[in-house]
Amino acid sequence: MSLNTSNTPLCNRRIMLQALGLTVALPSMPAFADKNLARFSDGFVWGVAASAPQTESRAGRGRSNWDTFADTAGAIEDGSTNSLCTEFDQRYPDDLALLADAGIKAFRFSISWPRIQPDGPGTPNVAGLAFYDRLVDAMLERGIAPWPTIFHWDVPVWAGDFRNREIAQHLADYAAIVAGKLGDRVHNWIVLNEPNSVALQGYGTGVHAPGLRSAKAVFAAIHHQNLGQGLALQAMRAALPAGRRIGTTINVAPVRPEGDRVENEAAARLLDTMWNKAFLDPLYGKGYPSSLTPMLSSFVQGGDLAVIATKPDFLGVNYYTRIYARAAGTAFGVTRGEPPANLPRTAYFHVEPDGLIEVLMRLHDDYDAPDLFVTETGFALDDPPPLDGVVEDRERIGYLASYLSAAHAAQKQGARLKGLFYWSATDNWEWGKGFTKKFGLIHVDMISQKRTPKRSLAYYANCIRHNAVT
Ligand code: FCB
Repeated sequence: MSLNTSNTPLCNRRIMLQALGLTVALPSMPAFADKNLARFSDGFVWGVAASAPQTESRAGRGRSNWDTFADTAGAIEDGSTNSLCTEFDQRYPDDLALLADAGIKAFRFSISWPRIQPDGPGTPNVAGLAFYDRLVDAMLERGIAPWPTIFHWDVPVWAGDFRNREIAQHLADYAAIVAGKLGDRVHNWIVLNEPNSVALQGYGTGVHAPGLRSAKAVFAAIHHQNLGQGLALQAMRAALPAGRRIGTTINVAPVRPEGDRVENEAAARLLDTMWNKAFLDPLYGKGYPSSLTPMLSSFVQGGDLAVIATKPDFLGVNYYTRIYARAAGTAFGVTRGEPPANLPRTAYFHVEPDGLIEVLMRLHDDYDAPDLFVTETGFALDDPPPLDGVVEDRERIGYLASYLSAAHAAQKQGARLKGLFYWSATDNWEWGKGFTKKFGLIHVDMISQKRTPKRSLAYYANCIRHNAVT
């Protein structure tokens, strides 16, 4: 798969970004004859993704687990906090104008649980709900379909954490409130974002909130998120009008052994079980993998597995890279290893487009051929600064083209892939990495909050126009 789009002739189209008074040249467009384009199926959903805790400010909401984590000295790489992020709660009209101009069809955002229930369970915060009401209307007015995620990692402090079983029901109650408020206009919903990242990184390695390092807590967090997801799906189905689709998103990654040491093979199987199967198997009615039942049995109660097997209408897949496993003397016997040295690297992850085909085909083959959406894929790069109203990020365009080609190849091989969301709409606050990782199609100056489109936004716009990899 070629990563290179920079040698193709320039096409002199321009888009007027009237809302911001900016004029931006579109990037070079490959001179393919139309018939040669790798075209996606009709109705393919082209979107961008973001989350509340990475873009919204703290104003007007309750305190969250990520506020506590970010306020802990040394927790965030660049010493930043999430107090302002990109001020999306104030500046969303600017972002939506740029995205609508580019022809973006869908926006996956998240609802901030501490904005809806700042102080406790029960009655929601009217102003918090009103914000998402306005946001959804603003998207619809611009022809962008809203795709909210109910839970993208921010837990209100009052709700505790996933070691406790009660949080599952709290999550479902909150989900039903939001579905009841927005369900008349929102057709597509996502319950959880990456419960596997939360369990392993929040409760195992401690690099994410709540910053715990405990094997027991990891298994509690696996089960209580799975349970909360099933309860929320049921509660949302009861609250939504007929015909609405509810999915859930898992970070599905192929796990390979690091290098050729034979003990890393067992480590890779173990990590695959914990990272992928502990979430996918019970969701698709297979129960927990037998190797994990001894660690999970103290948390699982009668009826739980039936709730967890509440089938979503689609599966959201976040894919960035494969994961490499190394045998280690840790509580789990495994740690993350290094990828092969020859793989290209962005500022954060390494680049493996073919892993996306592997993931999508595995889900298709092993989990009843579900409808699939890539709900996140994207590239953090050390972009050059804006110049004359644009950021030249041709490297991102090349990587994006290669991942889109992989998505297209999986669709051709039979995966029921219905859409893709680029992570992320704008640069934002990347959790424990602070503002150091820039994934956006839109550059944000974190001091002035000024937005500048990147070349990759116009490239993505061109793909959307052709419903194809261009
Ligand atoms: C995913 C998260 C998302 C973002 C990207 C880079 O794991 O879901 O919020 O941080 O990684």
